[in-house]
Amino acid sequence: MEPVPVPVRRMHFDLEAAPRYWHSQSPFLTHYFTAMSLLFPPGERFFIDSVRNFEDDIEDPLLLAQIRGFVGQEAQHSHHHRVYDRLMTRSGLPVTRYEGWIEALLQLFRRWGPRKAQLALTITLEHFTAVFANLLLSQPRFSEGMDPHVRPLWLWHAVEETEHKAVAYDVYQQVSGSYWLRVLMMVRVMIGFPFGIALFHLLLLAGDGQLANLRDMGRGLRFVWGRGGFVRSAWPELKAFYRRDFHPWQKDDRELIATWIAENGGRAAAAP
Ligand SMILES: [Fe+2]
Ligand SMILES: [Fe+2]
Repeated sequence: MEPVPVPVRRMHFDLEAAPRYWHSQSPFLTHYFTAMSLLFPPGERFFIDSVRNFEDDIEDPLLLAQIRGFVGQEAQHSHHHRVYDRLMTRSGLPVTRYEGWIEALLQLFRRWGPRKAQLALTITLEHFTAVFANLLLSQPRFSEGMDPHVRPLWLWHAVEETEHKAVAYDVYQQVSGSYWLRVLMMVRVMIGFPFGIALFHLLLLAGDGQLANLRDMGRGLRFVWGRGGFVRSAWPELKAFYRRDFHPWQKDDRELIATWIAENGGRAAAAP
């Protein structure tokens, strides 16, 4: 398969123009995505560092170029999600404080965790983001309820997660390749990641006085956990990671990238 380009794009989003409950007018769904958004700035900083730790061990010029693209893309994602998180904080929810909790947790792992384990954590979380990205891009029902000021942020992020989904994995294969380390990490992430999302989601709903909004909660739970919902749709692809011969591009979803580029024209232009 031809290598997939990993271009860095400079994007502009008008997030301030979005209504408070920008996903399907639903506090539950809006805060579900906010819980994900607040993980990105500290998480993507960690991903960048864990890949950069091994940059000197990589000789393949193509992979080195992809690493540069990966770093640039993740830095751009963090920037825009931080803008979003600040906006939510201004509207009264302590989103940036929660970002700080994640930052502190990852800082501990940076200090005490072996570098290969840090990279293994990155590739498991990159797999999660690639699977969610595929769902957002391929199943319009997950994003069509988003306000038009916010939807482009998530779709752009999803496209770039698809473009660079194998970069950290390919670095891992070159510098470690341990099957059991990545499997062990995936087991932990499959427990810890949904728990983390649920915790922040609950905190945000509670902070917004929405815990008693049972009608909205029922609708949101169906979106996330119901048949054909986000989690159940993700499961078959998520568990593919446990195969010994797994590689992110075994799921060839390059046409989703091409479609987005065709639809976004000039906005999709890569920075020089
Ligand atoms: Fe990202
Ligand atoms: Fe990523």
